[in-house]
Amino acid sequence: MKVNQAEFIISAVGPGQYPQDALPEIALAGRSNVGKSSLINRMISRKNLARTSSQPGKTQQLNYYRINNDLYFVDLPGYGYAKVSKTKRAEWGKFIESYLLKRETLKVVMQLVDLRHPPSKDDQAMYTWLKHMNVPVIVVATKADKIPKGKWQKHAKIIKDELGFDRSEPFVIFSSEMGLGKDELWELLESAIGW
Ligand code: GTP
Ligand code: MG
Repeated sequence: MKVNQAEFIISAVGPGQYPQDALPEIALAGRSNVGKSSLINRMISRKNLARTSSQPGKTQQLNYYRINNDLYFVDLPGYGYAKVSKTKRAEWGKFIESYLLKRETLKVVMQLVDLRHPPSKDDQAMYTWLKHMNVPVIVVATKADKIPKGKWQKHAKIIKDELGFDRSEPFVIFSSEMGLGKDELWELLESAIGW
C-alpha cells in the first residue's frame, strides 16, 4: 500500500463523532505504552502524526486517522493502566466494547502485544473476547528491536501459548523503530479489508 496522504480526523468521545463516510476501519488495541501510535506512524511513514508519548494512558479517545481517502486507522485507548480509576476503566471498557461490536465499517483489529514479555491478563482477556465475539484480529508483537533476533521465535511461542492463539491466523513480529513487519502487515490489512 502506498500512502500518499494521512490526516488526523478526530478524537471521538462518542459514536456521534465517528466519520460518516463508511470507509473501512482498522482499529488498534493494546495496553498503554505498547506502541499503538508508533505503529500507525510507521505504517504511514510519518514521524509523529499519531501522538506518541512516554506518559502511558494519554490516548483516551478513539483517534481517527484517514489514509489516502481509502481507510481509517482507529487508535483505541490503551487498557490496563494502573493509575486510572476503576470507574474510568469500566467506562472506557464499555465505550471500546460497543465500538468493537457495533461499528459496521470495522474490518479488523490489530491487537498489539510486547514481544519482550508474556501477555498480561488484560491482553489475554482482550484476545479471548475478540475471538469469542468473532471480531477479526491480527496479533502484532511489537518492540522486536528490543530483543535479539535469535530470541524472537521463543518469545512468540510463549505469547501464542498464553493467549490461546489460533495458529491458523496471522501473527506479525513488528518494530516501529526498525520498520520491521510493515510490508507483511499492510498485506494482511489489505486482505482483511477485502482488497
Ligand atoms: P498509549 O497511547 O498511552 O496507549 O500508548 P501507545 O500504545 O500509543 O504507545 P506509543 O506508540 O506512544 O509508544 C510508547 C513508547 O514506546 C514510546 O516511547 C515509543 O517510542 C516506544 N516504542 C513504541 N514502539 C516501539 C518499537 O517498536 N521499538 C522501540 N524501541 N520503542 C517503541
Ligand atoms: Mg497512543
